[in-house]
Amino acid sequence: MSRVAFITGIGGQDGSFLADWLHSQGYEVHGLTRRPASGMATTPVPSHDRAGNRSAQLHYGDLGDFSALSHTIREIGPDEIYNLGALSQVAASFRAPEHTADVDALGTLRLLEAIRLNGLRARTRFYQASTAELYGLAGHAPQTEATPFHPRSPYAVAKLYAHWITINYREAYDMFACNGLLFNHDSPRRGVEFVTRKITRGMARIARGLQDRLQLGNMDAKRDWGHAKDYVRMQWLMLQQEIPQDYVIASGKQYSVRDFVTWTAEELGITLEFRGAGIEETAVAAHVVGDASDFVRVGDLIVEVNPQFFRPSDVVSLLGDPTKAFEDLGWKPEYSAREMCAEMVAADLKMAQAEAEADQSLGDAENA
Ligand code: NAP
Ligand code: GDD
Repeated sequence: MSRVAFITGIGGQDGSFLADWLHSQGYEVHGLTRRPASGMATTPVPSHDRAGNRSAQLHYGDLGDFSALSHTIREIGPDEIYNLGALSQVAASFRAPEHTADVDALGTLRLLEAIRLNGLRARTRFYQASTAELYGLAGHAPQTEATPFHPRSPYAVAKLYAHWITINYREAYDMFACNGLLFNHDSPRRGVEFVTRKITRGMARIARGLQDRLQLGNMDAKRDWGHAKDYVRMQWLMLQQEIPQDYVIASGKQYSVRDFVTWTAEELGITLEFRGAGIEETAVAAHVVGDASDFVRVGDLIVEVNPQFFRPSDVVSLLGDPTKAFEDLGWKPEYSAREMCAEMVAADLKMAQAEAEADQSLGDAENA
């Protein structure tokens, strides 16, 4: 008999990679979707993940709705639940703090209650997508499982509740429930609002003549970036242990947003020169080789700062210490941040090329 997994957020970056991974391990995979194929609740339908090459059974529901969550969990009786669903954009959480709290904090409580009230606490293992954002204004680097939290956004505060309610259900009800304190992980499947994908997509479009320039916020921010493919294996591994525990998952290396801009430009054959500081900072093309030279000239302004992308309170520096995960789970990431950047640029360049060709055909058709 296959083991059964239920993933909230299956349509997101991590959910799609995790579904791939669980399929490869022989799991029967179920996922929560907010987009019903029919008007009926809990309608399992064959579906595809973002890569379009796997199928999972989707169940209509929302982390804001206990009854649908409970009904689905009772029906499936999963061996493992991965709670990846969330309003995950930190900047957006400042504009929707209450909804973020409902989904990211209380959504976690609803799942834990659904497990408990359906009598599944001895059977169902629970993974909570906790986050390095909890460290926020951390007074200590690198951050470990013991570093105190200082959340800096409505998102992080909501995730703090989710983190502790997961621990509370583990302690109070003896549930197998774990938090993965994951540092930033990205991929070509990353949403375009997050800084890495915004950079690789925007600069690939500039290199293909589809966009003039890229506007960013705080380029001094530093992150510990890894590849989502490496990180979802860890989510699964945590639930395969004998004792439920919380783990930091990170690369142990830190780079700035400016570094990521520089790498992306280099992948595209553009050497950038950064000028000015603060909101006056810009990056111009100092040298261009290869296909990008069809559209980018030396001296062109490629990146500028727009204060619109500053946050009311930002997390300026995150650096994780994954020693516990290395030692207990035997984990070694396969991708460096630079390799991930190269993969993202290649994927976005392909998309920009397709878009440029579609624009060209449209133009040709209009002129015919
Ligand atoms: P993502 O791409 O933004 O995916 C989030 C998913 O949550 C989407 O599929 C979204 O569904 C779903 N969702 C949003 N609101 C929902 C609601 N009310 N009910 C049910 N589902 C809802 O995020 P990700 O990068 O895969 O991250 C996965 C999880 O890990 C998130 O909880 C995130 O906070 C956490 N995390 C991520 C990172 C990272 O660097 N990626 C690091 C630490 C923690 P729709 O497709 O319908 O919008
Ligand atoms: N999004 C965005 N857009 N961020 C920018 C920009 C911009 O134009 N310019 C600079 N940044 C800076 C942000 O201020 C932040 O300090 C940093 O780039 C990273 O931003 P994001 O890529 O949006 O990610 P995040 O670190 O805020 O949050 C991600 O990682 C967390 C784990 O550390 C999300 O995936 C969260 O859901 C996750 O918990």
